[in-house]
Amino acid sequence: MSRIKVAVIGCGYWGPNLIRNFSACPRTDLVAVCDADRDRLETVCAPYGEVALADSVEQLLQLDLDAVAIATPVSTHFPLASKCLEAGLNVLIEKPLTGSAETAAALVELAEQQNRLLMVDHTYLFGNPVRKIKSLIDNDELGELFYADGIRINLGLFQRDINVIWDLAPHDLSIMDHILGKPARSISSWGCAHAEAMIEDVAYINVDFNDHLMANFHVNWLSPVKVRQMIFAGKRKSLVFNELNSTEPVKVYDRGIDVMPTANDRRRLQIGYRTGDVWSPHIDSAEALLNMVTHFADCIIDGVSCISDGRSGLRVVRYLEAATRSIRAQGGRIVLSEQGNHFQETTHGIGHGERELFTNIQ
Ligand SMILES: NC(=O)c1ccc[n+]([C@@H]2O[C@H](COP(=O)([O-])OP(=O)(O)OC[C@H]3O[C@@H](n4cnc5c(N)ncnc54)[C@H](O)[C@@H]3O)[C@@H](O)[C@H]2O)c1
Repeated sequence: MSRIKVAVIGCGYWGPNLIRNFSACPRTDLVAVCDADRDRLETVCAPYGEVALADSVEQLLQLDLDAVAIATPVSTHFPLASKCLEAGLNVLIEKPLTGSAETAAALVELAEQQNRLLMVDHTYLFGNPVRKIKSLIDNDELGELFYADGIRINLGLFQRDINVIWDLAPHDLSIMDHILGKPARSISSWGCAHAEAMIEDVAYINVDFNDHLMANFHVNWLSPVKVRQMIFAGKRKSLVFNELNSTEPVKVYDRGIDVMPTANDRRRLQIGYRTGDVWSPHIDSAEALLNMVTHFADCIIDGVSCISDGRSGLRVVRYLEAATRSIRAQGGRIVLSEQGNHFQETTHGIGHGERELFTNIQ
């Protein structure tokens, strides 16, 4: 097999981007598009004359396909993906994988039973800036990582079925998961819902990765300005990823501190500040989604190892779930421990009153 036959389910806001890239990718044939909204389906598919149109996943499954890509609301990911995996198809799902760790784990198991690929579109992993950041960190350019800090704020597109954490934090959490290659130890989060009850629109997430490495992410649909920035601070150097700077999205700063004991009093530390050059590596401006759909095809056709497989999607969903639980527990820390696809959570380091509150909301 040198090409795969693909259908896209869902052509609302994001689906058309998948449709465009699957039809441009030399390793994929876009065979069909499915959407419950017939008018939307016909409008979006008008430029793709040869493509079959389906109103339901049942209709779609009558066609000869190798794979589907699901770009529908998060609450529909699990039922749609289960049907497609059970029908023997490979499945690409938009982030986040599903709306709960339980359903995400069930999908991972089903894909393994069916011996089919389950992949999540964690889009940033396929963009050249994050590829460059990963190679810099893998090559120890920054030295030991101290912390990561992300700001992803905008006057955002409000969602009806998920809060701002489930909408925006999959990006930051999947980038961290990919770059570090190790799971988080605990999560705590604060957030507030201003427009609709229980749909938080502003949130701050703190993730502890052990070994003195922590990450903080601010996600927000209520900001008057758009900011898309991540800082990775290391012992030797630090870097800033500013997605909105299209010509120089990554800048590496040769700045940091040198810590040494003072000569006359070894209990006191002397801090030396280093301020060296700032440089901006060359980064090609290829479209991340084209890289992503090509990787999906490469994994199916050539058996390439998938960098955003179901298990990575499950880890991200666990973090999102833990962050939301923490908000409901007034910022109570959720400790994560991995046992196969199932995870234990316990509160940690919070006061008696908060612990009672946390227990009550379980
Ligand atoms: N990777 C990214 O950067 C990115 C960006 C935006 C959205 N997304 C993700 O894409 C997904 C879709 O988001 P959106 O904003 O496009 O949603 P949307 O509401 O704009 O579109 C969803 C479409 O799915 C259709 N649909 C719903 N249920 C269906 C069903 N059972 N069968 C067939 N069609 C169905 C709807 O009619 C609609 O056209 C979400 O998971 C979202 O998180 C990803």
